Amino acid sequence: MTEAAIGIIGGSGLYKMEALKDVEEVQIDTPFGKPSDALIVGSLDGVRVAFLARHGRNHHLLPSELPFRANIYAMKSLGVKYLISASAVGSLKEEAKPLDMVVPDQFIDRTKNRISTFFGQGIVAHVAFGDPVCLKLAQILADAVESSRLTEVTLHRGGTYICMEGPTFSTKAESNLHRSWGATIIGMTNLPEAKLAREAEIAYATLALVTDYDCWHPDHDSVTVELVIANLQRNAINAQKVIQETVRRLTENPPDSDAHSALKYAILTPLD
Ligand code: ADE
Repeated sequence: MTEAAIGIIGGSGLYKMEALKDVEEVQIDTPFGKPSDALIVGSLDGVRVAFLARHGRNHHLLPSELPFRANIYAMKSLGVKYLISASAVGSLKEEAKPLDMVVPDQFIDRTKNRISTFFGQGIVAHVAFGDPVCLKLAQILADAVESSRLTEVTLHRGGTYICMEGPTFSTKAESNLHRSWGATIIGMTNLPEAKLAREAEIAYATLALVTDYDCWHPDHDSVTVELVIANLQRNAINAQKVIQETVRRLTENPPDSDAHSALKYAILTPLD
């Protein structure tokens, strides 16, 4: 039976973990259809982890097309208790520069077209989501960024991630609105994942990798596709180092997470 307590979802640019050994490709069918791709289960310094390329290894899925429920269900079915999400984002603050890393602690939902719950169909539940990431896992992730001593990377602990629908990027008016809300970064994927992970009682945290200043920034118009792709590639190399260090720390000292009992008082429909 294939099992892994730690899951990794890799976003744009991070389609594989080079350091994985003894790799097993696992095809999982779920009640919500197939995940974005096969889950790659392998050993990272002796620890079994499950890796999933969020958009598929060939990047064929738009953010709105992602099978979020199947992805989280598949992770849960392998026994995942901690889920690390590595994700490309745009920056809404001058101080969060391209190549920087942000470990956000809040989200704002600006999606329109996502199914972000396992409930319904006769079962009503409302999980607590005031702290949308597991703060203990986020701290381990941020500590791992610091101890990885990456040149050119500044770590930003905490901050708000705006999750927009996409796939088109924001208008300048939207970008400035998001800035006026005090948000730090913007992306298109993490909030449905965070909600579903919470419902699945999986501790979730985001390693946000800045690729660009969003369009509010005066330098934005001079940003080329080549530059963004180069940043994605640099971010992917840096993210793998951080994830490896996070897995080491997490294995040494796995925290109790409130997420692991998120359903305790959440389900309103009598189940017996
Ligand atoms: N992902 C990377 N850069 C982004 C941006 N500027 N807006 C939304 N998602 C992004």
